[in-house]
Amino acid sequence: GGIALTARAENEKGGATASGALVFDKDASTTLTTTVTDAAGDEHEVTYRFWKAVTYVAKPVDEKYQSLNISLPVTIDGKAVDATGAPILFANSVGGYLPASVAEATGVGGGGMGGGGTAPGGAPSASAAPSASATSGTESGSSAQLAGGRTVSLPQLGLAAGYVVVEPGARGRTLKNSAGEYYGTAPAAIVDLKAAVRYLRANKGRVPGDTDRIFSTGTSAGGALSALLGASGDSPLYDAYLKEIGAADASDAVFATGAWCPITDLEHADGAYEWNWGTNKLSTGAQADQTVSRELKSQFAEYQAGLKLRGLGGFGTLNARNYDDYLLKTYLWPSATRYLAALSDADRATYLAKHAFITWDGEKATFTWAGFLTHVGARKKDAPAFDLFTFPTDSSDTMSGDINNEFGAGTEQYRHFTLHSLREDKGSSARLASDIPEKLRLMNPMYHLVDRVNPGRSRHWWIRLGSADSDTSLTVSANLAAAAHQLGDDVSHRYYWDAGHGANEDAGDFIEWVAKTAG
Ligand code: DHB
Repeated sequence: GGIALTARAENEKGGATASGALVFDKDASTTLTTTVTDAAGDEHEVTYRFWKAVTYVAKPVDEKYQSLNISLPVTIDGKAVDATGAPILFANSVGGYLPASVAEATGVGGGGMGGGGTAPGGAPSASAAPSASATSGTESGSSAQLAGGRTVSLPQLGLAAGYVVVEPGARGRTLKNSAGEYYGTAPAAIVDLKAAVRYLRANKGRVPGDTDRIFSTGTSAGGALSALLGASGDSPLYDAYLKEIGAADASDAVFATGAWCPITDLEHADGAYEWNWGTNKLSTGAQADQTVSRELKSQFAEYQAGLKLRGLGGFGTLNARNYDDYLLKTYLWPSATRYLAALSDADRATYLAKHAFITWDGEKATFTWAGFLTHVGARKKDAPAFDLFTFPTDSSDTMSGDINNEFGAGTEQYRHFTLHSLREDKGSSARLASDIPEKLRLMNPMYHLVDRVNPGRSRHWWIRLGSADSDTSLTVSANLAAAAHQLGDDVSHRYYWDAGHGANEDAGDFIEWVAKTAG
């Protein structure tokens, strides 16, 4: 910092905030070396400069979370690289809408995972089991589960590809101050990620990387936040929140958005869930209450009709009657086809013998929606999946009532965010808390793509989801893709065949897409 730097920053157009506190200190890095195993399995030795725990707001509520790490590759496999103008991989590690801190990281991707073998904490993916491992925060919402089960870290892959990697922390829903007030619930996480982007853009030319080529990434809740960051770029709706924490006065738009299994469109997710998985049994063998399920499902029909979204690939306007057909033709058949085509003849024959619901004509896999649902098997969540009728009493299970907690406020840990669940719980004349409608707009990328078309949104979208992921409805990411596509944006959306929650099976392709898309 210092007065001279402050004055200079204030004088630069589009420079740091007037407080001057947010000037990036170029010299405050250490130099580290790591070995990264890329998506193809090849090892790369990378020397990089590492800036750690850089507070990105002038008035932090909790610096442990409101700070970011930056990694700049200097040599890759012994060759000097100049990445000062490279694309920026902006990789959040949020899982479960829980707090995410990078302040204790020892290197890129959390550090200490050298060969890219296992994620820190030993979990295959924090986002696959957020209750178990994401509370500690730093790690691995940004780790990628490849098809063979090997886990790689997207930040490490990005670094080895010669990109600048920025890993932002963000507040999350469980944070509570000494007065018992929740200070990390909606919209804290998105406000923090926006503040982190603003910090980078305010320090254009001082921070490494091209601040006009920011690629946001995240998985699950982190995927939802990444999609939201992309959709809501430069929206004035967040201004008061950003001002309150002393965010830099700069653009928070990102150039491109990567979102893996986004748990988003939360206020419509209960209905979508029942439309998709309503008749599937739970892992206990029990069936969700079918009266509840059918009621919620009818909400999906109404919601989907209101969206007026056309499907990709020339498919007509999506509705509750044709969406199964749309998912099959656009995503699930091609997904199974890619999977089967990549197998040896013998392995394919074995798979097909075991999964007779699939018809393979020698080139292409087809099957019915009913066959597919039976194949996926147990639904992960009971009905309703998100806005619970009654709030959890066992607070040791942080994932139960997760979204009720995300919409908590003040000293209230859990709040309803749909009228349906609220009235089921509190009676037919109950009203949603007055701030809930605004919080929903602040948290939903669909609002910024459909209800109000946001000109500051990113124009490039990479969206991925496992076909067997029943953490939310398969329609959620498809609607996100359709909404962006309808606006003329560049959309790549695929489903990974038979993959569950947190999968990232084509991380290498994503890394290439970044280079191609950055231009
Ligand atoms: C995540 C998973 C969920 O099922 C959910 O409801 C919210 C978040 C996650 O993995 O981040």
